[in-house]
Amino acid sequence: MAAPEIDNSKYFVREIEKNDGCVLRMKQCYIGDVGCVVWDAAIVLAKYLETKTFYDPSTGVNMWCGRTVVELGAGTGVVGLMAATLGAHVIVTDLEDLQSLLNVNIQENQTLIQSGSISAKVLKWGEDVSELLPPPHYIIMADCIYYEQSIGPLVETLKQLSGPETSIICCYEQRTEGVNPEVENKFFELLQQNFIRETIPSDKQDPEFSSPDIHILHIRRKD
Ligand SMILES: C[S@@+](CC[C@H](N)C(=O)[O-])C[C@H]1O[C@@H](n2cnc3c(N)ncnc32)[C@H](O)[C@@H]1O
Repeated sequence: MAAPEIDNSKYFVREIEKNDGCVLRMKQCYIGDVGCVVWDAAIVLAKYLETKTFYDPSTGVNMWCGRTVVELGAGTGVVGLMAATLGAHVIVTDLEDLQSLLNVNIQENQTLIQSGSISAKVLKWGEDVSELLPPPHYIIMADCIYYEQSIGPLVETLKQLSGPETSIICCYEQRTEGVNPEVENKFFELLQQNFIRETIPSDKQDPEFSSPDIHILHIRRKD
């Protein structure tokens, strides 16, 4: 079936260059909710996926090749797309409203995906995850710790979707104004009941795309 035609007047493009010189072209909407643009935490996380911890063409190391990945609150889908171009089998998830943008960006970047794969699904945090099981090797999420009401459901989704072998990689921007510190504290309080976390130091992140107020965590189940 032919791919649907894209109405380019609705979008403006952000380009993210990969280390191999290929460029991810991410369409962002002029009008829409928070998920319609690429957030800085998404760029930091996408570029982290290319660091030597995971991917080193000179030694043949590729932790993404053939691995299953679920992205939560994917927005434009840039982080999941990066993982798919590195060889992972990715499902990017977000609310119903973001599905057309996710599919547009998948279509736009399909030629960069060779051994990997990517598709989009609806997942509202706290709701049934059975379509996404068995637990993936990785759960990735960028800038998802920001909305007070969704913190409990988000941690619930992490519990339902992860298994003992799942690595959760969470990147978030630390915001000091308003309710943000409280929201972050609540997330970590709930998280520590079932998970352990490790902060990734800046020297293990991409040398260019990192920032003192953007943190990357590796999270695993306690059991
Ligand atoms: C700040 S945006 C980040 C988007 C993208 N990860 C990025 O960093 O560019 C937060 C994302 O979480 C999604 N989101 C918010 N509440 C959600 C919920 N209850 N269930 C699923 N997704 C949710 C939004 O639709 C949005 O795409």
